[in-house]
Amino acid sequence: MLDGENVYTLLKTATTFLKSKGLSESKSDAEVLLSFVLQTKRSKLPLLRSQKPTDKQMLQYENYVLKRSNREPLAYITGFANFMGFEFKVDKDVLIPRPETEILVEVALKIAKEKNKKSVLDLCTGSGCIAISLAKLGVFEDIVASDISVNALAIAKENVLINNASNIKFIESDIFEKIPDCKFDMIVSNPPYVTEYEYADLETELKFEPKKALTAQDDGLFFYKEIATNITKYLTVNGYIILELNSNKAEDIRQIFSDNKYANIEIINDYCGLPRVLKAVKS
Ligand SMILES: C[S@@+](CC[C@H](N)C(=O)[O-])C[C@H]1O[C@@H](n2cnc3c(N)ncnc32)[C@H](O)[C@@H]1O
Repeated sequence: MLDGENVYTLLKTATTFLKSKGLSESKSDAEVLLSFVLQTKRSKLPLLRSQKPTDKQMLQYENYVLKRSNREPLAYITGFANFMGFEFKVDKDVLIPRPETEILVEVALKIAKEKNKKSVLDLCTGSGCIAISLAKLGVFEDIVASDISVNALAIAKENVLINNASNIKFIESDIFEKIPDCKFDMIVSNPPYVTEYEYADLETELKFEPKKALTAQDDGLFFYKEIATNITKYLTVNGYIILELNSNKAEDIRQIFSDNKYANIEIINDYCGLPRVLKAVKS
């Protein structure tokens, strides 16, 4: 499939091939995959331009380029995604951590520091990227992370080891079902929030991710309603709720929290100017 005998010619043919399949980031995709196969930094590829990969590396590269041409996300091909500067193992059982979710982590870290919040519950933890980033970057004494998916929790636990994080207790739970009766200073969550209607229109790359991690019933609002109505039991007085938002539903979600008597509801925009994170206080 790929004509080329050294790094330079391989990259050239892979880029042309991916471009012919309609991939907009064909050059960068070709480079990421080749640096992964050669176990080198992408920035080092120009120095290796005359190097001839082994037959095994050639086969591996062809296989990865083919997968990418079928729109499989890079993170699932390489098995890793970067989030908050840390490496997270990912596979098809977990959502690939998104850059916009880093805003939620930054908001949570700022509140924890300013208001001296020491315990946090991360609902719908998936790969564990939020809980682990909080453990690494904050000074929490107690972190609990939950998910309905046993497979996702297994990946999250591996990510704890990969990142040498500590202090995190994982619970398999359908939302609040098995969360013990205790109160947290903060509850954070990036819940599933895509509507069935939106899901039908998503690009092919997203269809590789677990549907259960993306979609929510009740027009995408199911988890926000569950959280707003049940969370009182789990939050300390003046405890914070910090949630990632479906930017198309930000006002509906604000209304849900306002109807449930939360105070100081604030919506924070992402780098594209879209409403992305809701923070509110239980008064
Ligand atoms: C949008 S992903 C977020 C993953 C991760 N926190 C992140 O930000 O990348 C939502 C997660 O919710 C989990 N989930 C779906 N339904 C759930 C439920 N009823 N109770 C608990 N977790 C659920 C999925 O398994 C998935 O890991």
